[in-house]
Amino acid sequence: GKPLVVAIDGPSGSGKSSISREAARRLRAAYLDTGAMYRAVTLYCMEAGIDLEDAAAVEAAARAADIELSTSPDAEFVRVSGRDVTDAIREPIVSSSVSAVATTLGARAELVRRQQQLIKDSGLRIVAEGRDITTVVAPLAEVRILLTASEEARLRRRGVQLGGTQSAAQLKEQVITRDAKDSTVVNFQQAADGVVTIDSSDLDFEETVQAVLDVVYAST
Ligand code: C5P
Repeated sequence: GKPLVVAIDGPSGSGKSSISREAARRLRAAYLDTGAMYRAVTLYCMEAGIDLEDAAAVEAAARAADIELSTSPDAEFVRVSGRDVTDAIREPIVSSSVSAVATTLGARAELVRRQQQLIKDSGLRIVAEGRDITTVVAPLAEVRILLTASEEARLRRRGVQLGGTQSAAQLKEQVITRDAKDSTVVNFQQAADGVVTIDSSDLDFEETVQAVLDVVYAST
């Protein structure tokens, strides 16, 4: 069939992962969670005792890490060196360290290459989400969306996602502080030229999925 690459960027807590996964299901497309790859490299570094401030070592780790990532929207798994780390990469210790990997430009270059290969491997029918998909990983995607939400909505959603176990200060650290760090190397706060913004602050899950699908149908 015709290529259908749907690129979705947005800040943390915007709902991008769950929305993108569901959009992929309905489009019968593959799904790529690029954040999971940054998380997997972070866990790999932490377990190998690699200093996250050592750019050369982090870049080497990104190249060396054996990461397997499901691109089926119906089967979520991530493996590092053959071991299942699907849950481990969501731990707060990884969330609060991941920006160190994301701001290491050599590590980004390696992960961008791998992501572009996974998009090719999908037969160019995929919903890929992250921070730099519309601008760096797949700037020529058929559909490019920036999914945003107010700070209040993002903090609330992340809190619910983590089971209401986090304090307000912990949530702020995981959403606002992380976005500020990530923003030093990628711009996911403003839509690039040709990128459609969807503000989900006042939309529920189903309405947001529909808004994404509306953009897909309008642009293809
Ligand atoms: O989307 P998620 O919150 O799982 O992403 C984890 C981290 O991975 C982000 O905070 C960011 O540091 C990094 N990331 C990135 N570029 C992407 C996707 C994620 O820098 N395309």
